[in-house]
Amino acid sequence: MNPKEIATQLRCPSGKKAPEIAQQMNQANYQINNKCINLLHITDNDHILEIGPGNGAFAQKIIESARNVSYKGLDWSSDMVNEAKIHNQQFISSNNASFHQGSSSAIPFSSSSFNKALAIHTLYFWDSPFLHFAEIHRVMKKDGLFCIAFGDKSFMKDLPFSPFGFNLYHSKEVEHLLAIAGFQVQTVQQYYETGLSNTGATVEKLINVILCRA
Ligand SMILES: C[S@@+](CC[C@H](N)C(=O)[O-])C[C@H]1O[C@@H](n2cnc3c(N)ncnc32)[C@H](O)[C@@H]1O
Repeated sequence: MNPKEIATQLRCPSGKKAPEIAQQMNQANYQINNKCINLLHITDNDHILEIGPGNGAFAQKIIESARNVSYKGLDWSSDMVNEAKIHNQQFISSNNASFHQGSSSAIPFSSSSFNKALAIHTLYFWDSPFLHFAEIHRVMKKDGLFCIAFGDKSFMKDLPFSPFGFNLYHSKEVEHLLAIAGFQVQTVQQYYETGLSNTGATVEKLINVILCRA
């Protein structure tokens, strides 16, 4: 795939190439997904929303972190929603998981539905991030925890696919947007990960992880 095709697939994986790109994302993003799940300190009976879970590869870890967890994955790619349903059939059957097609700009759930939420490597694709944060805030219970993780603009700008529609940020800009959407930033972590980019090249990534309260 050329950089433009990779960018299009990362934004909304679809068609024949979607399963391949989803698997690459699972490998490239394994470490950051685990980190965010651990930061959320999932406990029994949590109601959790994930924005952009792709093929739902990390739903199992979320659901098995505690007892009676209710997990909902919202992805705007219908192909990813279908894949996630296949991978997570046992959790769907046990009523612990459901996967929905839609965007975080108009979340198809009632206000105050969730006490935990996460969004990993999805922010780049949002044209008005404030609106998405306000929507996420709306569906969260008061004091609920939201974890957002994204690659820093400082290295993302040099990736070959970034010029094709990626919106890039430094942490402070996102902290500000979260605050005006009603969140209270609790912790900001920045760490370096050496790993494969979605082009297959090895890159050193500066990752921002922001944990905030609704
Ligand atoms: C780059 S992938 C990251 C997938 C996964 N979170 C990970 O860490 O590997 C972005 C995923 O988020 C979905 N997505 C991006 N923005 C979204 C939004 N605003 N609402 C719902 N899904 C979104 C895309 O369809 C895609 O499946």
